[in-house]
Amino acid sequence: MKRSRLITALLLSLALTACLNDRKCGRDAIDDKVEALLSQMTLTEKIGQLNQLDGYIPQLESELREGKVGSVLNCPADRVNRLQHIAVDSSRLGIPLLMGRDVIHGFKTIFPIPLAQAASFNDALVEKGARIAAEEATSAGIRHTYSPMIDVTRDPRWGRIAEGYGEDAYLTSRMGVAVVKGYQGDDLTKPNTMAATAKHFAGYGMTESGRDYNICDVSEATLHDYIFPPFKAVADAGAATFMAAFNEVNGVPASGSKRLLNDVLRGEWGWRGMVISDYYSIEQMRIQGYVETLDEAAAVAVNAGMDMDMMSRVYYPNLLELVKNGTVKESVIDDAVRNVLRLKFKLGLFENPYLDENRAASVLYAPEHLQAAREIATESCVLLKNDNNVLPLADNVQSVAVIGPMANAPVEQLGTWCFDGEPDHCVTPLKAITDEYGERLKINYVPGLAYSRDKNENDFSAAVSAARKSDVVLLFVGEEAILSGEAKCRADLNLPGAQGKLVEEVAKAGKPVVLVVMAGRPLTIGKEVEKSAAVLYAFHGGTMAGPALADLLFGKVSPSGKLPVTFPKMVGQIPIYYNQKQTGRPPHDPVLLDDIPLEAKQTSLGFTSYWLDAGVDPLYPFGYGLSYTTFEYTKIQFSSPTMTLKDGRITIFCEVTNKGNRAAKETAQLYIQDIAATMTRPVKELKGYEKVSIEPGETAVVSFDITPDMLAFYHEDGKTYAEPGRFRAWIAPSSSLQGAVEGEFEIKD
Ligand code: BGC
Repeated sequence: MKRSRLITALLLSLALTACLNDRKCGRDAIDDKVEALLSQMTLTEKIGQLNQLDGYIPQLESELREGKVGSVLNCPADRVNRLQHIAVDSSRLGIPLLMGRDVIHGFKTIFPIPLAQAASFNDALVEKGARIAAEEATSAGIRHTYSPMIDVTRDPRWGRIAEGYGEDAYLTSRMGVAVVKGYQGDDLTKPNTMAATAKHFAGYGMTESGRDYNICDVSEATLHDYIFPPFKAVADAGAATFMAAFNEVNGVPASGSKRLLNDVLRGEWGWRGMVISDYYSIEQMRIQGYVETLDEAAAVAVNAGMDMDMMSRVYYPNLLELVKNGTVKESVIDDAVRNVLRLKFKLGLFENPYLDENRAASVLYAPEHLQAAREIATESCVLLKNDNNVLPLADNVQSVAVIGPMANAPVEQLGTWCFDGEPDHCVTPLKAITDEYGERLKINYVPGLAYSRDKNENDFSAAVSAARKSDVVLLFVGEEAILSGEAKCRADLNLPGAQGKLVEEVAKAGKPVVLVVMAGRPLTIGKEVEKSAAVLYAFHGGTMAGPALADLLFGKVSPSGKLPVTFPKMVGQIPIYYNQKQTGRPPHDPVLLDDIPLEAKQTSLGFTSYWLDAGVDPLYPFGYGLSYTTFEYTKIQFSSPTMTLKDGRITIFCEVTNKGNRAAKETAQLYIQDIAATMTRPVKELKGYEKVSIEPGETAVVSFDITPDMLAFYHEDGKTYAEPGRFRAWIAPSSSLQGAVEGEFEIKD
C-alpha cells in the first residue's frame, strides 16, 4: 500500500472510531470522513472528483490513475470492477468511482414509461417498480441513476412528457417521492440501492412551445406553486442528488443559477446532496450567450453551486487556473468536493466499491419482476370509452381481428429511455393474446401498416377483410418509441402515418372497434375515438405490456388508470390543463364555428372565453378514466366546518360505492378551490388522492386531512402562505367533477 493511501486509511479509521464514540453518529460521522480525506487532496484531485467522463473514452484509465475523474457515465458492467480497481488501487488516494446511468423506467425488466406509471395513481406500485429497477441496475454496477424526472409540464408536444409524471405538481410530487424511496431503499449503503436524481432543476417542463431545450419564461408564482413543489418534496424525502436543467429560467441558465442551486435548494430548503449538471449543460451556457468562454462557464457554474460536470470537460482542467488566479475560491471547490465525497460515503463505496458479478444472473428478469411489470402496466392503462360495454370481451366472442402497427412491435412498446431493455424479452399484445386465448379464439392478425409512420395503404384491404370475418376488432395504434422522449417533440399530435385512415377503413367493416393506443404522450385522437366503440390508452407499457393489455381486454382485471395529463382535442388548445385560473368571462353557451349564421353580427356570439372551433373542453380531462364497473360518490362530511390558520386541520370523508358486479379499483381525488384570495387562484387543485379496491356492492370510506399549509401559495411579497377565507372541496372521480360530492369549509385567522 502506498504511504499516502496508508495515511488515508488511518485517518478514515480514526474518524470512524471518533464516530463510534460519538452519540451523534450518522451524518456527522460521514462529515468527519469527508474532512479527513479532503484535507489530503491536491487541487487536481479535488477538481478530478468533480469531473464525470464517459465509460467508453480511450484515455479514461490513465486519467483515473491520475485522480482526474470522480464519476463515470455509462460504464459497461464488465468494465466496472476493472475501473474501480484502477481508482482504488492505482490512484494516489484510492477514491472509488461513482457509476451513473439513466435507468428511467426499469433496467432490463422495463416498466411503463413514467407518464403511464403516473396514470396508476398507485404510489406503492410505482415504488415497487423503482425498487426492482434498482435491484437490476445495481447488479450491473450502477449506483447513481438520473431519475425521477419531476418536471411538471402542460405541453404534450414536448417529447419528454413521456419521462415525467404529467401536468400536476401534487401527483408529480407523490410519484417522485415513491420513485426516490424505491431506488434508495432504507439504507443507501446496501449494494442493491442507487442514488436518485431529481431532475431537471428547474423549469424544463415549461419549455416554450413544447420544443425541447427551449427557454422557460414563467412567473414567480408558477415557479413557486407548480415547478418547485415536486423538487421540494423529493428533497425532503432524501433524494441524494439533483440535476440542473439545460434551460434558462427567466434569462438565467439553470446550470449557472446561484439562485436555484444555492439560495433555494441549499439555503431555503436546507438540502445537503450533490448537484450534477446535465449533459454538456455547463459548456452550453456559452452557446446560450450567458458567458463568453469556457473558463467563465466553469466559474459561473461552480460558484452557483454546481458540484459535478457531466461530460463538458469544462471543470477539468479550467478550474485549476481559475483557482490559481483567484476567480474561484478554493473553498468553493472544497464545498463541491464535500458533496461528491459525502455521496460516495453514503453509498458505502469506500467499504464496498466492487460489483458482485454473479448477482445479475439471479436478478435480471426475475419472475417477480416480470409479474410486477405486468401489474404496473395493467394499472397504467386508461379506459377512455366503452360504449355498450364492449369491453371486457364477452365469453361468446369467438374471433378477433388483431390489427395495427403496434400489435406486435416489441421495440416500440418499450418506449423512450431504454438503453438496457431488450425487445427479445418483450411480450407483445399479439403474443399475449395468442398464448392465452389462441386455443378458444380465432385470431385474424393483419398489421395493416408496418410501423406507426407508415403511409403505405396496400395492406388495408386485408385488414378490412380480417375485421369483417371477426366478431370484434382490436386495433393497436400509436407512436413508435423514437417519436417521444428527449429531443423528440411534435407540432402535430395526430396519429402518425396513415393510422387515422386505417382506423377509418377498418371501422367501415361494421364490427365493434376496440382502439388501443400505445404512445409516449397524449395524442389528438378525437376522430378515431368517434369511430371506435372502446378506447384504451396504454401509453408505452414496457416488457409486459402485452399480457397487461390481454388481462384488461379479456376482463381478468378492470381498468383503473386515470389520466395524469389533460388530453387536448387539438394542438391549438395547448396549453390546456385542469388547474387553470378562472377567466373573468367563463364560457357560456359557446356557439361553435359550424353553427354561426351567415353574416352574423359582431356581437351576436357573446364575449366569453372559448375557441370557435374547439369549444372550451379538452378531449379528456385530467384524472379521467373509466372502469368495468361504476362508482357512486355520496355523503361528504367534514370533521369541522372551520379550522384556524395556525395548527388547523379538517378531515373530509365520503363514501364510494361499487355499483356494478365486478371488483375494481377506484382513485378518489380531492380537489380544492380557494374561493377568493389576495391573488387569483386556480379553479381547482388536486390536494389528495386515494386508490381503493372495492368489491361489487361494497362501500369504501375515503378520507383526506386538510391543513392550511396545503393551501398555501406564493404571494407578491415573495412569501408562500395560506390565507383565511372560504374554500370549496370536492371528492371526485376526475377533475371534470362529474359525479363528485362537494362541500365548503373555512379557514379562520
Ligand atoms: C438528459 C438527462 C440525462 C443525461 C444523461 C441528458 O441529455 O437531459 O436527463 O440524464 O442526458 O444521459
